[in-house]
Amino acid sequence: MTENTLDTELAVVILAAGQGTRMKSSLPKVLHRIGGRPLVGHVLDTARDLGPARVVVVVRHERDQVADAVLGVAPEVVVVDQDEIPGTGRAVEVALASLPGFTGDVLVLSGDVPLLDADALTALVREHRAARSAATLLSAQVDDPTGYGRVIRAADGTVARIVEQKDATAEEASVREINAGVYVFRAAELRRQLERVGTANAQGEKYLTDVVALLREEALPVAASVVARVELVLGVNDRVQLAEAARILNARTVRRWQLAGVSVQDPATTWIDVTATLSPDVTVLPNTHILRATFVAEGATVGPDTSLVDCEVGAGATVTRTDATLAVIGEGATVGPFAYLRPGTNLGVRGKIGTFVETKNATIGEASKVPHLSYIGDTTIGRGVNLGAGAITANYDDLAKHRTEIGDEVHSGSHNVFVAPVRIGAGAKTGAGAVIRKDVPPGALALSVAPQRNIDGWVDTNRQGTAAAEAATRARSAENTEHGA
Ligand code: UD1
Ligand code: CA
Repeated sequence: MTENTLDTELAVVILAAGQGTRMKSSLPKVLHRIGGRPLVGHVLDTARDLGPARVVVVVRHERDQVADAVLGVAPEVVVVDQDEIPGTGRAVEVALASLPGFTGDVLVLSGDVPLLDADALTALVREHRAARSAATLLSAQVDDPTGYGRVIRAADGTVARIVEQKDATAEEASVREINAGVYVFRAAELRRQLERVGTANAQGEKYLTDVVALLREEALPVAASVVARVELVLGVNDRVQLAEAARILNARTVRRWQLAGVSVQDPATTWIDVTATLSPDVTVLPNTHILRATFVAEGATVGPDTSLVDCEVGAGATVTRTDATLAVIGEGATVGPFAYLRPGTNLGVRGKIGTFVETKNATIGEASKVPHLSYIGDTTIGRGVNLGAGAITANYDDLAKHRTEIGDEVHSGSHNVFVAPVRIGAGAKTGAGAVIRKDVPPGALALSVAPQRNIDGWVDTNRQGTAAAEAATRARSAENTEHGA
């Protein structure tokens, strides 16, 4: 890739003002996400890789949302507002007004064409410059051209014009070479021709694509560069295409990590955001989502059926059938199956969060275990702790959340409730079924359940004639025969 070597003769214009009606969404189209990033974010990323002198993004529909998303990741970008005149041609015209005196090449990208890479665009700009064309557009031969503008070529094979689907005759519509919506123009020619573009077409819009025929009218050279990999120019106009783009991008991401030493058993059901980082010898099992800023260290195994959002997984850890967000999982730790790790979970080295366990704002120390059926929230647990099955931290008293603090080497009995705020001293033990309401000193045994009493014959007296009473009678007579004979 050509990363950030400044090209002073190149400006990039990204079109992101359209409404995106076909998405049928309250969210602007270019903010729909694939691979964990908005469509326009992918385009911005690629644009910046080219190292242009300027990047201009044109906004209008939900302008603040789009502008915030753009400036949030790329503060150096110039955001310009399109006015009430609709169309891609108008959008480029207002962008050019923010580039006064610029005489280099203008690369126009669409905010809804997210899969292009910097290599393809670098090749396009090179081709344009080498041929000294007034405009070079990217085109593709597709099986189904529905929805795209068609590239109409003259008898000599050169590009004559572009016709939009809605304006096309049946014959034009049958053309399968489509306009990708990506172009390089000489700035001066583009400015001049855009002034001449009208809105007399099926959509009443000022089409950027009309510039092609106008340039040809003046005998200026226009070239089309046909991309071999059609997937690069997929335009996202509806949610079917959104899912398709997401799938293609994901396949690319999975492949990249495979080649970097990650075993992915089932690429089709593994989803990795472009913002996630994996390490060599990680194993990813089927139906696993590794999202946002998640980092997975060497030799860890994640999945099957696991979703990690903004998590950190330590080397050699195992995370099975787990849903985790903003959690840190220590080196060699094990999580799941069926665990739910909420924000602020921090599991120590070789620690364990087991089956049907939910955690939140919980630090669990080195080699400590919460193995079965538990809720641990707003809690600090030391090292070498083992909580019995069914441990519950009662962190909420109906008014506020309180903390539970459990010292090193504490072993609790099964089915304990820790009523916060409460502290269990290091090395302490608790009995089965205990409800711990008061602090437990280090090394103490805490019991809160009354000693067991057996009231003989209770069932015979209180449940006469029931199946239980009959069963008890049978059992007693069998015992008597054994012992009495
Ligand atoms: C456009 C092209 C079509 C091409 C296709 C490729 C035109 C007239 N048509 O059609 O030839 O095959 O892209 O994907 O250019 N936008 C603005 N302001 C506007 C209208 C649109 O900024 O007034 C932006 C949109 O946000 C979008 C891009 O321009 O990012 C393309 O607009 P869209 O309406 O999707 O054009 P298409 O019908 O796909
Ligand atoms: Ca489009």
